[in-house]
Amino acid sequence: MKTPYFGTNTKMFKTPSEACEHIRRLAELTRDIRDRMHLFVIPSYTSLPSAVSAAEGTGICIGAQSMGWEERGQLTGEIAPPMLKEIGVSLVMIGHSERRHVLHETDLDEEKRVSCAVRNGMKTLLCVGETTEQKAYGISEETVRTQLKVALHSVTPEEARTCLWIAYEPVWAIGTTGVPATEQYAKRIHEVIRDTLNTLFGADIGLEIPILYGGSVNNENALRFIRQPEIDGLFIGRSAWDAENFNAIIREALPLFEQCSK
Ligand code: PGA
Repeated sequence: MKTPYFGTNTKMFKTPSEACEHIRRLAELTRDIRDRMHLFVIPSYTSLPSAVSAAEGTGICIGAQSMGWEERGQLTGEIAPPMLKEIGVSLVMIGHSERRHVLHETDLDEEKRVSCAVRNGMKTLLCVGETTEQKAYGISEETVRTQLKVALHSVTPEEARTCLWIAYEPVWAIGTTGVPATEQYAKRIHEVIRDTLNTLFGADIGLEIPILYGGSVNNENALRFIRQPEIDGLFIGRSAWDAENFNAIIREALPLFEQCSK
C-alpha cells in the first residue's frame, strides 16, 4: 500500500515564530497518525532554521520554497543546496506557479534548479501546471508534458527514483482567485504526468514517483481529489495554514486514501 503525501507551502506568510507555532501545533495534532503519511511544511527562508528545530523528532519534513542552481557562486539573493543541507533541510520545491508567473522563471530555469537539487541529493518537489490561457487553447496536456520534459531533462532514472516528487497545480486553481479543478480534470492531467514520467524514466521508476494535487484544496473538496487513484497526496496552501484545519483535512483524507487501497 502507498503512503499518502500531505504538505503545505506557506508562501510569503508567517514570520519565523508563526511558522514554528504552526509546525508545533501540527505535530501535536497529528502525532497519532504521523507514521501513516508523509507530512511536510515549506515555510519561507528565514523560518527554516527554527522550523527544522520545531519539527525535530516529529517526522514532519521541512522544505525550502526554491533554490539556486549552483552549489556556490555569484547569484545574489539565491540559496544553495549546501546552505540548506547544513541546517537540516533536504526538501526543496522548484517551479511553483508564483515563481514561474510572478517572478518569470522559465522551464529552462527550472531545469537548472532541478538538476542542481537532485545532483545534491535533495528531495525535489517539482510543480507543474497550465495557465488559464493554455487551458482555453486546449494545450494543458502539452504544457504539462513540456514543463516535465524540460525540467527533468538531465535527471537520471536513479535520481528520479530517490529524489523526485511532482505537484500538479493548475495556475488558474491557485490562490484567492483560484477555482479548484474538478476531480475528473485533475485525474486526466495526473494520468498525463504519470505517462510522461514513465516515458522519461521507465515504468518501474515512473510509477514510484508521487504526484500530488494542489490548487484551492479545502475541507469541501479534499476527499474528491484524494479518492482518485491517480492522486498520491494533497499540496495545500491557504486551507493548511491553520494547523487545526490542516489536521481536519488530513484526518478525513487519510482513511479514504487508505480505503482506496492505492
Ligand atoms: P492554495 O495554494 O491552496 O491557497 O490555492 C496552493 C499553492 O499555491 O500551492
